[in-house]
Amino acid sequence: MKVNKVKLISFRNYQKEEISFEKGINLIYGPNASGKTNLVESIALLSLGKSFRTNEYENLIRVDSSFSKVEIELEKNKIINLQMIISKNGKKVYCNEVPLEKLSELSGILIAITFIPEDVLIFKDSPNVRRRFIDICLANLYRRYIYYLSEYKSYLKQRNALLKEENISLDLLKIFEEKMIEDQYHIIIQRNELFKGLENKINLIFKKISLKEDSIKIKYQTDFLINSNYEEFKKDALIKYEENRENDLKRKNSSIGIHKDDFTVYLNDKDISLFGSQGQNRLVSLSLKLAYGELVKETINDDPVLILDDVLSELDETHQNNLMNVLLDYEQVFITSAKKEVNENISCLYQIENSVVTRRK
Ligand SMILES: Nc1ncnc2c1ncn2[C@@H]1O[C@H](COP(=O)(O)OP(=O)(O)OP(=O)(O)O)[C@@H](O)[C@H]1O
Ligand SMILES: [Mg+2]
Repeated sequence: MKVNKVKLISFRNYQKEEISFEKGINLIYGPNASGKTNLVESIALLSLGKSFRTNEYENLIRVDSSFSKVEIELEKNKIINLQMIISKNGKKVYCNEVPLEKLSELSGILIAITFIPEDVLIFKDSPNVRRRFIDICLANLYRRYIYYLSEYKSYLKQRNALLKEENISLDLLKIFEEKMIEDQYHIIIQRNELFKGLENKINLIFKKISLKEDSIKIKYQTDFLINSNYEEFKKDALIKYEENRENDLKRKNSSIGIHKDDFTVYLNDKDISLFGSQGQNRLVSLSLKLAYGELVKETINDDPVLILDDVLSELDETHQNNLMNVLLDYEQVFITSAKKEVNENISCLYQIENSVVTRRK
């Protein structure tokens, strides 16, 4: 898939811009604070329904404006028009002019894989950052994932609310647990599949970029059984809920479940979050995103759009060239950089000056 056009009205530092993009590697350059990240943020916004850098959607509206509009022309097997209108009252999303009821309906339409400077910290960050990555991946890969996850979250909320009550009905608590076990069985299968797929792909990608023979392993951590049939899974999970119930009643919270899941990445059998250098964290986190890109390609039989914000400046020339070769396998890639990079693989150049985007190649 590819983004043909981005139209911005009162979005971030942009007043009114209309930019046409092409397939291949699109490089967006300009000095610091010129609006490079803002531009790619607008594309990611219509992929996820939310910004990769803020939950305060009002920050997206240009200072002194009352609303903001992002419009994207997406081309996959057909042309799709996506729009988001942001006002003080909230966000509204339209697909081919039809309003979407929930932001989750956006999932799977424009699949954009983003790598932003903060992603380098993914292995060192708190587990909820890694869980967000897992959920975004799976929302695009499996239609039913969001269904199981939101059902689980709703039971979890109800169980936690019940744990805070005065006279707790144990029967009701057990009903919630049984429902949660069922959802978690499906979620754990899908998360485990994701990690197996990522582990397989990340080794190939990392080799292509680093030209090293290092081995990368991804270990999934969850409270319940990973490779089992439903009967065994349920039996084990019921015992664990039983064992933890007293503690949960005391703490008025659910101490076990997939809301505590995490994963660890090992580079040559060493935990990268503890032993990896900054450069290794950068290359492995980037490879992880690209490994996810490979899984998307295989699953949907189409290329996701890649957005790499400010990655080049941190890589030496060899790594930059190796990365470019990997990127050539994608229909469309957006790269931002403070410098005008010279590389024969770049198809289009866009310069940002005073909040105006001008095509230079
Ligand atoms: N809602 C807004 N209204 C107006 N300007 C905004 C708004 N939000 C952000 N900006 C401006 O956008 C600029 C930052 O843009 P952005 O983060 O895209 O820069 P950048 O080109 O990626 O810079 P860097 O190279 O430092 O990463 C800042 O000058 C900031 O003041
Ligand atoms: Mg930036």
